[in-house]
Amino acid sequence: MQRKIGITETLFRDAHQSLLATRLKIEHMLAVAEMIDEVGYHSVEVWGGATFDTCLRYLNEDPWERLRTLRKRMPRTKLQMLLRGQNLVAYRQYPDDVVDTFVAKAVENGIDIIRIFDALNDTRNIERALRAVKKTGAHAQASVVYTVSPAHDIPGYVKIAKELVEMGADSICIKDMAGLLTPARASELVRQLKQAVNVPIQLHSHYTCGFASMAYWEGIQAGVAVVDTAISALALGTSQPPTETMVKVLQETDYDTGLDLSLLARINQEIKKALADYKKPQAAVNTEVMVSQIPGGMLSNLRAQLEQQKLSHKYDEILEEVPRVRKELGYPPLVTPMSQIIGTQAVLNVITGERYKIKTKEIKDYVKGLYGRPPVPIEPEVQKMIIGDEKPITVRPADLLAPGMEEARKEIKGLAASDEDVLSYILFPEYARQFFLSRKQA
Ligand code: CO
Repeated sequence: MQRKIGITETLFRDAHQSLLATRLKIEHMLAVAEMIDEVGYHSVEVWGGATFDTCLRYLNEDPWERLRTLRKRMPRTKLQMLLRGQNLVAYRQYPDDVVDTFVAKAVENGIDIIRIFDALNDTRNIERALRAVKKTGAHAQASVVYTVSPAHDIPGYVKIAKELVEMGADSICIKDMAGLLTPARASELVRQLKQAVNVPIQLHSHYTCGFASMAYWEGIQAGVAVVDTAISALALGTSQPPTETMVKVLQETDYDTGLDLSLLARINQEIKKALADYKKPQAAVNTEVMVSQIPGGMLSNLRAQLEQQKLSHKYDEILEEVPRVRKELGYPPLVTPMSQIIGTQAVLNVITGERYKIKTKEIKDYVKGLYGRPPVPIEPEVQKMIIGDEKPITVRPADLLAPGMEEARKEIKGLAASDEDVLSYILFPEYARQFFLSRKQA
């Protein structure tokens, strides 16, 4: 029984987000874009996640222009992006008209497949974006965010996947951002998902703990249709398993990808040359994560943050505080924006010497329900410490948001040249304004 497995190449998005703080420049992408277009990948992930933010904030690059350029240079390949549900490519919820416009513009500028997730697996935060994608005719992939906690189990994930398929999802992604999915769990999860839903399953994992290649192999045998990999120069560690390894392994099985290893080797050579311009960490396996369950990206951010504030000696204490805060707050998966929200509160709890003495606006909003429903209820005493007697909302958070496009158009009139610009401004007002001003002077 031959079954061809699809490969999504993450080189232009997750791989460099995971290993290079999302700093890969467009010139280095263009050096290999045409070769990548020849490979015959199922898709190439090129946009969304942190790339939008980084383009405007650090690279003085228009994220929309980047997308159009890649579209032009890769006319034959399906381009994919990662969308954080109602949070789009930023860190808080946006009104429905902004979600609709963003999705329409992403597709218009070249995206074929939109992978949508919500950090809390709250399907209400995915529904609007999913419907917007369906309206454009693009492929709507909805994600189940995988984490390990007493509040999460396989029947729970299956239930979420069923809801997403009922909403119209064209495929389901198992999004294992922390690389915690073991081969045995992958096999069981995929087997049960295949029984429950009738759409293709894609597996997205990170190599953080060293499980991912084995998890892919088990997942594929259980029925996964597509896996996410990164060309080897930007694979392993907190990035994806290497593309070439997966292609070679599958060649000798009934699941051949059909991809050309010598072409992949040439792409890898070019990327290796480009990497001389970047500071790439040693891509090691991190077994700490198996115990702490804190994603690798979050660990390195925490470490950098503490170094900056001369608090490195508090690292171990904070590492113990993160799971405590997470438990008290109903076990949110540690993925953007929840990883930042929980991480910052844990740091505050340790450095002030009194837990929840200082609370961020984000943690208050989370407890009020403004990010969605926590996986299990927040501990009542902790809720009281954070928002007092205030009652959390029970409606979908975005139902409380007034439309945003018109007002933003007025605010940024004169500097914004298109609706794409207006969207950049809504998502990152300061960085977008700076970018528009420098563009005007150029
Ligand atoms: Co990822």
